[in-house]
Amino acid sequence: MALLEVRNVTMKFGSLVANDDVSFDVEKGSVVGLIGPNGAGKTTLFNCISGFYKPTSGKLFFRGQDVTDMPAYAVARLGAVRTFQVVHPLKEMTVLDNVLVGAFLRGASAEKAHEVARECLSLCQLEEISDRMAGGLPIGYKKRLEMARALATGPELLMLDEGMAGLTSTEIKAAVEIIKGLQKRGITLLVVEHIMEAIMSVADKIVVLDGGVKIAEGAPQEVVNDERVITAYLGAKFSQRLQASRGGANNG
Ligand SMILES: Nc1ncnc2c1ncn2[C@@H]1O[C@H](COP(=O)(O)OP(=O)(O)OP(=O)(O)O)[C@@H](O)[C@H]1O
Ligand SMILES: [Mg+2]
Repeated sequence: MALLEVRNVTMKFGSLVANDDVSFDVEKGSVVGLIGPNGAGKTTLFNCISGFYKPTSGKLFFRGQDVTDMPAYAVARLGAVRTFQVVHPLKEMTVLDNVLVGAFLRGASAEKAHEVARECLSLCQLEEISDRMAGGLPIGYKKRLEMARALATGPELLMLDEGMAGLTSTEIKAAVEIIKGLQKRGITLLVVEHIMEAIMSVADKIVVLDGGVKIAEGAPQEVVNDERVITAYLGAKFSQRLQASRGGANNG
């Protein structure tokens, strides 16, 4: 049984079909990438999975339990926690206090919450700035703080919505390492990301949405060579670049 089962999920806003009969599984312990062009329906699907939206039709199962009609707080309590594409830390609080808020949601004692928060700050490489005010942080840190705060709630499934957008290449590398570290600790991840090189290096499987429809699902290598994915999203240039870098690596 998969940790998360997305079954024929359709989400309509009036006549606009943001998710159209989408189905896939997220296996326990895996990292699944969710990609697609702007407006493909990735964030909408996150909102459905995490209980912020109730899908127009279809079903969502988390740990075998039907969560389709559950409110967001109940889904989070069950262990499926998401970050937001637009980060909004508690600006007037320190980095540590922001993460403590997440830890307290777990119902931890003050002592335990501090222990959890410190651990999450360490996992997200934020210990050094734990005393800084969250409001003034550059975007790279804010994205990581968002991740640490979600992590502090003790999720089994962590859903990251464009956690790498706006980051420098060094920060992207760090984010990739953080995700790999979380997977090693047994956390399952569903990751929305536009940075293909990053998603390819972390994902066990990639699901591609276009216009609300799932157009491909498979191993990263399969997906990037899929004609439909190239046409809808990656573009021929990306594929050629990828082939070229492969060729170079193989020959070298
Ligand atoms: N609350 C809403 N009300 C009406 N339309 C919405 C709502 N949320 C999303 N949409 C529409 O649904 C479609 C999918 O949007 P969504 O934000 O899920 O795309 P996305 O894949 O996350 O895109 P991006 O890569 O730009 O973040 C878009 O056409 C969007 O305008
Ligand atoms: Mg989005």
